[in-house]
Amino acid sequence: MPRAKPTTSTKKAAVLAALADPELAKLPDRALDRLFGTSVGFTSRVRKSLTSAKPDPVKSAAATRANALRYPAWEPTDHAQPTRSDAAFRVLGGAEPWGVEHADALDWLRQLPERAASLTLFSPPYEGQRGYDMGFRLKGQAWVDWLRPIVTEAARVTAGLVLVTVSGPVRDHEYSPVVEWLAADLTRRDGLACGPSPYAWVKPNAMPGSGSENYHRRAWEPIYAFCLPDRLPLAWSDPLAFGEAPVKGTKRGQRMTRRKSSGARPLDSKYTAPAIANPGNVLSCKVGGGNLGHPLAHENEAPMPLSLAERFVRWYCPPSGIVCDPFIGSGTTAHAAILHGRRFVGCDIRASQVELARRRLGDFSADRPQP
Ligand SMILES: C[S@@+](CC[C@H](N)C(=O)[O-])C[C@H]1O[C@@H](n2cnc3c(N)ncnc32)[C@H](O)[C@@H]1O
Repeated sequence: MPRAKPTTSTKKAAVLAALADPELAKLPDRALDRLFGTSVGFTSRVRKSLTSAKPDPVKSAAATRANALRYPAWEPTDHAQPTRSDAAFRVLGGAEPWGVEHADALDWLRQLPERAASLTLFSPPYEGQRGYDMGFRLKGQAWVDWLRPIVTEAARVTAGLVLVTVSGPVRDHEYSPVVEWLAADLTRRDGLACGPSPYAWVKPNAMPGSGSENYHRRAWEPIYAFCLPDRLPLAWSDPLAFGEAPVKGTKRGQRMTRRKSSGARPLDSKYTAPAIANPGNVLSCKVGGGNLGHPLAHENEAPMPLSLAERFVRWYCPPSGIVCDPFIGSGTTAHAAILHGRRFVGCDIRASQVELARRRLGDFSADRPQP
């Protein structure tokens, strides 16, 4: 039976395989053309296409990992010009209760003095999920390297914790562990400490998803707490603000036991359950329409529920202290701060969001001129 004539694509596959071999790749292009019976210039064109090809992040898991290290640095197209943080300084000086500015998070944080805020709480753009109308497209280590200086700078300007709400995406069944990379880099390379607990924000009404095989409904997100090590133990915290009467340990038969080295578990006679127990580190907060705490929240692409922000404000920002959010979006964290008698400073890189947050906060202080 006559052999089938090699097609251009089988020839290309053969040349590609040869170029992947370190020894064969050293041969001149003409020699490879002769070897594979391709026309003069064929190998050279294939070689060129390899170097000019754009990385494809989803072609394979291996490609994704390799590409993560190669993504170019990103500069937003409508990058806000660094502003002097006048509004923030008016809040720090006690002249205003809140100030929201149009600025890049890192530029803006760099202008604030050490320990300016009591608590920083934010949700940044997630890795590879939304472009925010400005082509945000950082992935992998490039995303981590963009966020690291922002978190470390936030830690400098914060007297307490920096809480970061963010999760990694799943593509082609592969979870991208960028949040774990971020936590590792911040604690091992940048010298930050982790705060009292990573939290799990559970979304009892999370979107049902596509229903396709092997995917899970994305029903929780991590929230990491970072800070400079000298901020611990925290000068102020009130976790009992959301405490509840304990359900265990109050009745006979539910008393605490303490396991001895012998394995025996005698009742702990010293233990008496507190009237109010510390709340757990799993926080259940609904998302979506009617659950965000303000109708204007829907004008941001990824708003946080007000109920989530309220917890952290009441847990970790002392009354009349200052909450900071360098990715303010629709102003949820500011809303929570004002609602609970705290002050607020924040910024967003998009003018649309600065205007949105000011409109939202204006609802609470209609009698006051907006900063
Ligand atoms: C996840 S949203 C924040 C949503 C907000 N927590 C809320 O409840 O509405 C992220 C925000 O970060 C802003 N942003 C993106 N890059 C930024 C940067 N370099 N500096 C400041 N803000 C930025 C986006 O414009 C967007 O509004």
